[in-house]
Amino acid sequence: MTAQYPVARPRRLRRSPALRRMVAGTRLHAADLILPAFVKEGIAEPHPVASMPGVFQHTRDSLRKAAHEAAEAGVGGIILFGIPAVKDARGSAADDPDGILQVALREVNAEVGDAVVVMADTCLDEFTDHGHCGILTPSGDVDNDATLERYASIAVAQAAAGAQMVAPSGMMDGQVGAIRSALDGAGYGNVPILAYSVKYASAFFGPFREAAECAPQFGDRSTHQQDPAGLVEEALREVRLDLAEGADAVMVKPALAYLDVITRVRDEVDVPVAAYQVSGEYAMIEAAAANGWVDRDRMITESLVAIKRAGADQILTYWATEVARRL
Ligand code: PBG
Repeated sequence: MTAQYPVARPRRLRRSPALRRMVAGTRLHAADLILPAFVKEGIAEPHPVASMPGVFQHTRDSLRKAAHEAAEAGVGGIILFGIPAVKDARGSAADDPDGILQVALREVNAEVGDAVVVMADTCLDEFTDHGHCGILTPSGDVDNDATLERYASIAVAQAAAGAQMVAPSGMMDGQVGAIRSALDGAGYGNVPILAYSVKYASAFFGPFREAAECAPQFGDRSTHQQDPAGLVEEALREVRLDLAEGADAVMVKPALAYLDVITRVRDEVDVPVAAYQVSGEYAMIEAAAANGWVDRDRMITESLVAIKRAGADQILTYWATEVARRL
């Protein structure tokens, strides 16, 4: 009497690298990757970000070089964050035509703008002396509508400097609509908006606060960023509002702890969905790898595959250039 052996054997398709490669359901492409990069005004040498080994606050020159490397590797986009030499309560440097972010946008656009989508993070926290993402009321709240006027002006300054896409990240209500109408009114009707639509008040942003020197001097961002324990439908609502206000693409942030949200958003909308593998996600893997506890390269690839499989069309990742080279 013969034993009962399985007819269906999933292992058959896993037998060789060639088989596994052919039947893969998720593929990373260099063009899907977007590199976030920091540029700081008035420094002579790039500064390493201690909590993000391998990431730098760039000088204008080293940023151009990093942009060039990203382009050579085939990265799809680069999103710039500026750190001004002087900060004030209203973040005046953010919409100054000669502010560091505008200068960098012009230079990077001239360097790689034909090959790579040069984008700007549109927010105030890097530019305000109090580190909040907007204009404060006397009691220290972020004043939503006063902040919208600032975002509108910043987006126009960024577009004028050559930003091919602007990405509002401040989570003010109405920010996409305010920016859309300002861009349209200033003759930048063709500049698309990648909306950070779904952004959680996340501990995973920790290392970014060092990189962008934007830790709030008091309080936190939980009156505007979403509660990690909030209804997932709240994320869908944010997305729908942003689309109604004219967003061309939407983003979920952070990525790895919110894969379910990425999937829900991907199912809900008919525009590209980006996900941001944020500073804390980067730092966790780099720190564990530095201790010899994990296989760094495999873990990076696996995390990106997971984000893609969840439904992200584009991924913002500090490893963009490295991973694009490997692909
Ligand atoms: C706001 C902004 C932040 C990040 C991107 N844009 C910080 C925040 O909202 O507190 C975080 C990105 C990261 O952690 O990698 N300008």
